[in-house]
Formats: sequence, structure tokens, C-alpha cells
Amino acid sequence: MCGIIGYAGKENAAPHLLHGIQRLEYRGYDSVGMATLNNQKLTVLKDVGTVSEVDKKLHFTTLPGTLGIAHTRWATHGGVTKTNAHPHLSCDKKIAIVHNGIIENYKELTEKLNGHLFISETDSEVIAHYFEEKLKSKTMKEACIAFMKDIDGTFAILVIKHDENNMYALRRDSPLVLGVSQEHVIASDLYTFSDKTKKAVFFENDEFAIISKEKYQFYDRTGKEVKKKVHEFIWEQEESKQQQYEHFMMKEIMEQPAVVKRLLLSLKTDQKDNFEKLLKLIKESHKIVFVASGTSYHATLLGAYYLHQCEIEAQTLIASEFEHFASIEEDTLVIALSQSGETMDVIDALKYAKSKKAKIVAVVNVPYSTVQRMSDLSINILAGQEVCVAATKSFVNQVTLLLSIAQHFGFDVSLDELPEKIISVFKRAPLIEKIAKELAPTRDIYVLGRGLSYPVAREIALKIKEISYIHAEGMMGGELKHGTIALIEEGTPVISLVCNHDQAMLSNVKEVEARGAKAIIIGTEIGDIVVPTNHDGTFGILATVVGQLLTYYIAKEKGLPIDKPRNLAKSVTVR
Ligand code: G6P
Repeated sequence: MCGIIGYAGKENAAPHLLHGIQRLEYRGYDSVGMATLNNQKLTVLKDVGTVSEVDKKLHFTTLPGTLGIAHTRWATHGGVTKTNAHPHLSCDKKIAIVHNGIIENYKELTEKLNGHLFISETDSEVIAHYFEEKLKSKTMKEACIAFMKDIDGTFAILVIKHDENNMYALRRDSPLVLGVSQEHVIASDLYTFSDKTKKAVFFENDEFAIISKEKYQFYDRTGKEVKKKVHEFIWEQEESKQQQYEHFMMKEIMEQPAVVKRLLLSLKTDQKDNFEKLLKLIKESHKIVFVASGTSYHATLLGAYYLHQCEIEAQTLIASEFEHFASIEEDTLVIALSQSGETMDVIDALKYAKSKKAKIVAVVNVPYSTVQRMSDLSINILAGQEVCVAATKSFVNQVTLLLSIAQHFGFDVSLDELPEKIISVFKRAPLIEKIAKELAPTRDIYVLGRGLSYPVAREIALKIKEISYIHAEGMMGGELKHGTIALIEEGTPVISLVCNHDQAMLSNVKEVEARGAKAIIIGTEIGDIVVPTNHDGTFGILATVVGQLLTYYIAKEKGLPIDKPRNLAKSVTVR
């Protein structure tokens, strides 16, 4: 994953890079580094830790110079060490690079770079040595053209060298965008500079650019100049400061009523045309295939359920397995759900769908993201910037959109009351916190659902795993007795989602209770935590909100890093 940023302007680069890298930290936070150029000398500061931890130790803003690059890492190749942190340098320390992506043929390239001393275990270091070698006989522009030919893999790369005030930026499959104003900022996403400029130029695959404080020029892989469009973008975002909340996760949970309202309004106003086009596409398609990863996949499971209730043929596939299981024809409509719009597995799945000539609809939260730009039509879920790694409000808005679609095809649901109902769930917070404290010491939790509550069971279990580090399984109540019930012991917590006295679910509760489980029911009429609805459609969202709060309080009780859980990143841009 990783986030990268470069700055070329009139002011000192380091404060700009520090600000940007803080905004990019959701992409990875195991180590961080920066390099700037001053008086023909590159200086690098880097270490293991979050941006604020490393900055406290190394004081990034002491770095001089008006040109620089920075990186926040989510380790892929090589452990979390200072040496493996970016930027990486060439042997002569005259070239510094930062990289997001994976250089697949790095071993082969390393072997060819005889005589170069490699000090890290990363795939990325080879880039610095590659340019050092090529510059013995080529200009930097020629070296970029050669790089595009020689490298297999995915990359967004920034390169600076000791004797030029230019930055070189190269892209294949990993996100990269240039922010244009009095200065030039180049970064992994728009959010990095959305508080500074609303003008951006997007890199297409296999393009590279030469950027200085005064100008920029884009080239295709053969070195031919490419004229690029400057996009004026609108960035709909919540204030990305924590304000009165201790964690972004709680802030984002609390924003849910407001973002649901915003989305519902927008589907009737500014996104009305696109929404109607989407409904038409669904009507005209032979079948709908959703594709997504992680939490977004759970939203698509609900989407497939809702459409199925409306007698529309719909299925969903996890993006990383799409090619193996999807049967896509020209009259299939593929709907991709992705908060970031940059998940590599989703992008790969869409490439496959395109090769089969299917129409593609993107449902994203980040405007102008790769998934959006690959699609024939897109809807923005307008959840605003989501900082906590675990998705909350983006999930709720994805589901709200899917419910709005289903409503148009006859699914009976009243969405206007949804924001108020979410607020009613918030009022149960003290009870939820009490249950969370009891669950905190637990090793395993099972979450059961059926039909519409099965995806919710999976989503709640995922939240529990990622934020509170408790092993949790979200599963179909009906599958329990085919194996998992063997794991139920005296006191094992089993959370059951019971909508409208669902008898089959209540039987499952009895079955686990008979084996000593501690049964906890989230239900509509009965239960330990009762949510204010008797409607199948809204139950999914309200039960999810209970699960979000439960998870938050468990993690808080355990003193865990709620917004940045270990080993995770918000945007997964590697395969
Ligand atoms: C990562 C995040 C999850 C997210 C998933 C899919 O694993 O940690 O929170 O659900 O990616 O991301 P997307 O941006 O495609 O929704």
C-alpha cells in the first residue's frame, strides 16, 4: 500500500510534505521517511513508527530545500525496519526514491545490477540503483522510458536527484495525482492536497512526468509528450479533525445520520440523473454481478439480497477471486463498491469485466478514484473523508444506496426515517458499552445471522477482528451445526441477529445456549440490545451500528490503537 508525496515549490518542502504525509497515513503507518534537496545534496530522515512518533524524534521540518519527497509505509517486502523504510538511495546517495506498489521482477533486476550495494530487503530499493545505473549512459528522461519497458509490476514512484530541481513521477496501476497551484504537489490521493488546491491532473497507466516548481510535462511510455486535462474537483468532506472525539472511529460513527441524509438528498437532486441511469441499466441487464473487498463486500452481499427480493438476478463476488468464479457476458452489469476506489483487487476485477465487454458501474466514496474513472457510470456515496482504517459510515452509505435502488424496484423500506433511527441506536450506547466491557477479555466471539442479517453478522465479526483483536466469526446461523458448534464451550459469547422473531435464528440461540454459550441477542423486538425497527431493510444498518459501537468499546476497554489497528491499511493497493 503506502502513501507517497512530493513537493516542488517556492517554500520549504518539509512542512508541506509533513502535512501531506499526515493526511496519507491511513495508507500505511509502520514507518515513515522524507528526503529533500538542498545545495546539490540529498538529506534523508526515516524511521519506524507513525508520522507523529517519527517526527517527534527526527524533526522533519528541519530538512532544508524546496524540493522533496516523503513516504508512509505498509510493509510488503521486508520487515518493518528503519533500513526498509523509504526513501531509498542509490549507492552514491545522489538519487532518492519513494515507491508505492510492487516491483515483481526486482530479483532479476537486482542480479543484473552487478556491483550495486543493496542494503534493504525491499523490492523498491532496486529503483534507485536502476536509475543510478541507467544515468551512466542516458538522460533521466531516457531512463524513465527504459524503466517503463524493463519493470514488471505496479508502481507510483517519485524520484529526485542531487543535480536537478526536477522531480520525476512514474505510474502503473498504483494511484498518483498532481495537484496544481502556485506550487506542485504530487501524491497518492487528492485528499493529500484537497485543502490547498482544487485543481488536479491524473496520471494514466504507463505515464511519467517531469515536475518542477514552475512547470510540469507528461509523457507516455515511449517518451511522447501527452497533453493533460486539468480537472477542477469538488471535495465533499467532513472536517477531518477529531474535534471532541477521542478517536476518528467514534466521530465517523456519529456522522452516520448526517451522511445518510446527505446521500438520500443527493439521489433526488445532483445525482438524480446518474441514479436514474443506474436504475435503467439494472432494468436492461440480464444479471447484476457485484464486486468488492472487505467491508464493501459485506455491503454487496446485502445488495444482492435486496435485489433478489425484487426478483432481479444478482450475485456478488469477492474481488480477489472474481476472475476465478465470475461468469460475465456482454449483458451483465458489474457494480463495483469501493470506499477508496483504489483497491487493487477491485481494479483487476474490473479490467477482467471490461475484457468481457460488460458495463461497469462504480459506487465509490473517493471521487476521481481509479475505480470511478474505469466505470461507465458512477455514484458517489458522499460519506465524506473516512480516516479510521475500519470502515463505518462508508458501509452505512453503501447500504443506504443499495436500499434506495431496491426501493425503486419495489422493496418496501422507509429510508427517510433512517437517520433518526440511527440516532436512537446511539442512545443505547451505555448499555452497549457495558456489554462490551464484559466481552473484552474474551478470546473468541461468534456472530450469527440469516438472510439479510448474515452479511451484517460478517461485518460485525470483521469489525471485532480488526479493531479489538478478538477472533470472531460471522456466519450463517444455519451453518453453525455443520462444524463450528464444536467450538462452543461454557461461556463462549455468541451474538445472534434476530429480526422480527426469526424463529430459525431463535432456534440457533437455543442450540448454543444448550451448550453453555453466553448468548447475546441484537433484535427488533426481543434481545439484549433492541433496535428501533421492525423492518427487514433498516435492521441491517441499525444492527451494524450496534456492532460498530460494541467493537469500539471493546477496543477502548483493551486500550488498543482504534484508528490504526496493527498490520492494516485503509486502502489496499497491492494484490
Ligand atoms: C481494506 C480496509 C477495509 C476495506 C477494504 C476494501 O482492507 O481496511 O476497511 O473495507 O480495504 O476497501 P475499499 O476501499 O475497496 O472499500
